[in-house]
Amino acid sequence: MTKILGIETSCDETGIAIYDEELGITAHQLYSQVEMHGEYGGVVPELASRDHVRKIIPLVDATLQEAGIQPNQLSAIAYTQGPGLIGALLVGATVGQSLAYAWNLPSIGIHHLEGHLLAPMLEEDKPDYPFLALLVSGGHTLLVDVAGLGEYQIIGESIDDAAGEAFDKTAKIMGLDYPGGPILAKLAEQGADIGMRFPRPMTDRPGLDFSFSGLKTFAANKIAASDGSHESKANIARAFQEAVVDTLAIKCKRAIKQTGRKSLVVAGGVSANISLRAKLAELMQQCSGQVYYPRTEYCTDNGAMIAYAG
Ligand code: KG4
Ligand code: ZN
Repeated sequence: MTKILGIETSCDETGIAIYDEELGITAHQLYSQVEMHGEYGGVVPELASRDHVRKIIPLVDATLQEAGIQPNQLSAIAYTQGPGLIGALLVGATVGQSLAYAWNLPSIGIHHLEGHLLAPMLEEDKPDYPFLALLVSGGHTLLVDVAGLGEYQIIGESIDDAAGEAFDKTAKIMGLDYPGGPILAKLAEQGADIGMRFPRPMTDRPGLDFSFSGLKTFAANKIAASDGSHESKANIARAFQEAVVDTLAIKCKRAIKQTGRKSLVVAGGVSANISLRAKLAELMQQCSGQVYYPRTEYCTDNGAMIAYAG
């Protein structure tokens, strides 16, 4: 039975996993560098590369051990080819190709976003093709019409900041810790609806593209005008999150109308956002369709999605 070793090193997570065609994911190891980068308030690319170098081989060993298999039982090695931090990607590609050469296996370069897009396929409740996909990560915001495996058409994308980037940058402006996105989201849950309304960028004109860079400026102005209390910050976080979620939902609704798809896949780091999940579930219920997500640990970067794509 086909067994693929997946290697993900595009940013600040070293993720290694094994996908077995019959059994699904049989091993999954993840090392996050979040603590190391936290000191600097963001990912330091050179430190990321060096840490991948330190962690990758022990993690491959641990993954093989967890699956209880030897390298000669593998069918292929899949690694993230890009996009991502070039030094970090080079570590995964070098190790992946070298192991493949040494173990006489084929190696497969995977597009990071295809990995994210296919992550919901690892769930029991998974979509059938075709479907519409909303990819919301730290680097990308894409609406993709997926006709089948490998048949992707991008029908909308952000013309500036990605949704996750908007969360991260706004969190930084608000003085929140790194990684900002999930911390801002948590703060938003404590906020009250005080009638503060952020704009819903690019929803007043036709099309499926996004723009999120204006929201951080709007947030900065709201922060400057506030009393700086925890309560005001939480209220601003809530209004900001509502604007991002609403904007994403409005474009999803348009894309569903345009494509006639009945299933919506939501993946990438921001798909972990509880408020976004609730909103899109509601939307798809209205459209008599269904929304699909990866489990939370497969929303952010991981080796499982790369192994599966492989
Ligand atoms: O997919 P991912 O792990 O890495 C990229 O490929 O970019 O996504 C990371 C992004 C970050 O911008 C992070 O702030 C955001 O996902 N994120 C969230 C949440 N969890 C992660 N944004 C909003 N709410 C969350 N709960
Ligand atoms: Zn990612």
